[in-house]
Amino acid sequence: MNDFFKDMGQTVLKRWKQENFSLEKFPGIAQAVLDERPPAQHVDLPALMREFLLDDEQPLQTQSGFGQPELVAYEHPRFYIQLLFWMDGTTDIHQHEFSGAFHVMHGSSIHAHYEFEKRHAITPNLQMGQVRMKNIELLETGRTVSIISGRQCIHSLFHLDTPSVTVVVRTQNDPGTGPQFNYLPPHVALDPMFSDVLTMRRKQLLDVLEQTEDPEYADLVIEMISDLDFERGFYILQHCMGALANLGEWGTALSVFETKHGELAQGVAATLEECVHRDAIKGMRSSIGEPEHRFFLALLMNVTNRADLLALVAQRFPNVTPTDTVLRWADELMDTSDDGCAILDALFPESLDIAIEDQGELFLAALKHLMLGQKKAPASLKPLAAAGLKQVKAALAASSLRVLVD
Ligand SMILES: [Fe+2]
Repeated sequence: MNDFFKDMGQTVLKRWKQENFSLEKFPGIAQAVLDERPPAQHVDLPALMREFLLDDEQPLQTQSGFGQPELVAYEHPRFYIQLLFWMDGTTDIHQHEFSGAFHVMHGSSIHAHYEFEKRHAITPNLQMGQVRMKNIELLETGRTVSIISGRQCIHSLFHLDTPSVTVVVRTQNDPGTGPQFNYLPPHVALDPMFSDVLTMRRKQLLDVLEQTEDPEYADLVIEMISDLDFERGFYILQHCMGALANLGEWGTALSVFETKHGELAQGVAATLEECVHRDAIKGMRSSIGEPEHRFFLALLMNVTNRADLLALVAQRFPNVTPTDTVLRWADELMDTSDDGCAILDALFPESLDIAIEDQGELFLAALKHLMLGQKKAPASLKPLAAAGLKQVKAALAASSLRVLVD
């Protein structure tokens, strides 16, 4: 057992006991203890990993799938201290059924806070409403943030370095503050632990039909959606979205759902489209390791307008014009092959008939022009003409870079 975390656990225990194990007091105690002796300054990470691998005397570990991995460093019936490693993980937007505080021990993260308004429960496991980002900040190594259970603290983390390691001092469970909803912006909250086994099996059976290219697949999904209740219909729609889109049947399936559920279904299309956007960016994380580029991905995933994005870039790189920083990243992330030029998932329009070797420069010039919101296109964009520029803008707007040109 690691001595540093043993001491930390004993200090937390002593102070919390003095407060009669008040749940309200726990986040403050956890934050103070983490800040008084910050693990970022006092823990030697390689030594801790070695000790965990070689010393058999360790606290009881959990079966948790959270973290990559999670190590329990101290354990008590009322609270525990965990170390969460993150390799390429990013958390969903979520709330907690526990409280305490977390500390960035290694690496850094983008941290976004949200609120959920105009809540309407469809079932205990699925709610509709407005998911709104309140603020977004950069958490550098050594920062500590309190965790309050329930809807007061809805957040997401996007880790920038590999590995990132956070230390969490947390209660076992705060009764009455569940379920631990996940939020799908802009409109849905769902309980990720809720298990509807019939729907799970139906999704798996639909996958069989999809993978065997069964001609009945789309019709069957649409028939199911026309019959199912809102919650199960939503899960089927979410699961089959990609396959239906590939078959050209997504619009039909969505309108069947919207016709069946009327006003309740407002916001479902926007939410599922946002899921696709976020999944696309999550997917890029595994191949993009440079921390600055990960920072860019985190912003593209979480920030909803260009001004906020540029403000955060300026905050992190204060000595450079933020537009120039973004253009440098776009240039570094550009990939040119025989198929054409791409910046992340934005493809230079093939229909423009521009030689591949000229596409990159034009792509960047167009991005700069659109980001700056210039009325008149500069001379460098002359080869594109107005119609070409419109097509490039459409390509950027349909990609993960959309926030830069909206
Ligand atoms: Fe969290």
